[in-house]
Order: sequence, then C-alpha cells, then structure tokens
Amino acid sequence: MADLARRSAERELVVCDDLAKVSEAAAGEVARAAREAVKSRGRFAIALAGGGTPRALYRLLAARHRADLPWDATHVFFGDERCVPPDDAASNFGMARAELLSRVPIPVEQVHRIRGELPAGEAARLYDAELRRSFGGADAAPGAVATFDVALLGVGEDGHTASLFPGSEALEERARWAVAAEAPPGTEVRARVTVTLPVLRASRELCVLAAGEGKRGIVEEIFGGAPAPRDALPAALVAGTERTVWIIDRAAAGRFARAR
Ligand code: 6PG
Repeated sequence: MADLARRSAERELVVCDDLAKVSEAAAGEVARAAREAVKSRGRFAIALAGGGTPRALYRLLAARHRADLPWDATHVFFGDERCVPPDDAASNFGMARAELLSRVPIPVEQVHRIRGELPAGEAARLYDAELRRSFGGADAAPGAVATFDVALLGVGEDGHTASLFPGSEALEERARWAVAAEAPPGTEVRARVTVTLPVLRASRELCVLAAGEGKRGIVEEIFGGAPAPRDALPAALVAGTERTVWIIDRAAAGRFARAR
C-alpha cells in the first residue's frame, strides 16, 4: 500500500511463557519508553489498547510503577473505544480507569478519552480535534500526524487491531486521525471510534499484545511467511517508525514458541 510510505520498523516477536509474563515484558517496555520520552521530549504520549488482554498489564503498571514513572508528564490516549458510556463493562476507558488511571497520579486533564457515550460520528470528530490539539494544534506542520511515543494494541482473530477491521472504510482513511467504525455482526459492541492507520504508523513504538490459543491463527498469518495477502490485514499494516514488537504467550505463538 504505497500510500502508507513511512519508515516502519521490522516486526519483532517476543514469546513469553504466559499472559503474566507478557504483561511483565510489556510493562518493562512502557516504563523504558516513558523515561526515554520524558528525557528526550519532556512528555510521554501513550495510546492504550482496549479489549481484555491488556488488563493485567494496566494492573501491573499501577502496582509496580505508581511511584517511579513520570505520570505528571504522561498523556494517555486510546487507540479505540466502544460507543458505550464510561461505566459500561465494555468501555475500554472504563477498564483502563479501573485498573490503572484511578491508581496512578496522572493529572486528569492528561487523560484523553474517547467520548463513548456520544454517537460514533460526534465522538470521532471530538477525538480527532483533541488529538490535533494535543499534537501541535494549528502549529502542526503540513502533513504532520499525531505521534504517540508508544501505541499499545491488541489483535483480533480476524486480524483487526484497534477498531480497524479488514475491508473497512476506516482502514482506508488517510486524512482524519480518528473516525467512526463498525465492528462486524456478532461483536459485543458494533459502534466504535478508532484512530486511523496513519496515526498508528506514525507512532514511535508500536506494541501488539496477544495471548491464548485463539490468536495462534493470526500470529501464523502474520509471522508465518506464507504468501497470503497479509498486507490486507490491519494488524499486518500497523508498525512503529522506530520499533514494532509483538509480545505474545506460548499459547498464541504455536510453532514460533518452539523456535525459541
Ligand atoms: C477492542 C480492541 C480490539 C482488541 C482486540 C483483542 O476495543 O476490542 O481495541 O482491537 O484489542 O479485539 O481483544 P482481546 O484482547 O480481548 O482478545
């Protein structure tokens, strides 16, 4: 997809014994990146992943890094949100607030949630504007894109990531930084808001977390080297400009676990 021309780091694969070890490895990456970002740029901007996999990571960050991470210089964003109120059990913000944001001293104005209680189009427009205010505003250079220091992501069995689903209009968006999206029929919450591919590909470090046998198929698809049209899969298209790392457990790694 030539229109995505931007330096992207080769995909690294880290295989851990289980989800607890995946969460520990990811917490170490986040802590390192946070310190580096604040030292280099005076601020750390991270986009949190939704779904269930990162819950243990967020709990670990709150338990182990409440005192030693620069929360006063950290800005938290979200890769996507389900269009439900924050108190809904399906809310990505609600989960992050419960497990992390309510347990660390991050200034409330530095948590940039997606307003899931609003209709998707309106929530997407507001979030797009918030991203633009947070990353340069009117002074942003032409063609600039929101640049997270770290973008945390999960991956679905169909290869979606954030709420960029295969074959979706949202996946083709190149101008806006956040758009409304629709998850496939049968998904828990279909109305979504997601950051777009250019934003994810502008992130400095991109970290995909996956655990469980259910993700083995997509890991094989992405890392197996088969001549499949992998570039159609959102999870295959996302990459950081400086680092792209998948941190997965043995159950998701399948044959790749034995390679270690
Ligand atoms: C969401 C996520 C989505 C998620 C994957 C994996 O809002 O659902 O952003 O992209 O990361 O579906 O979800 P699990 O971690 O629950 O397997």
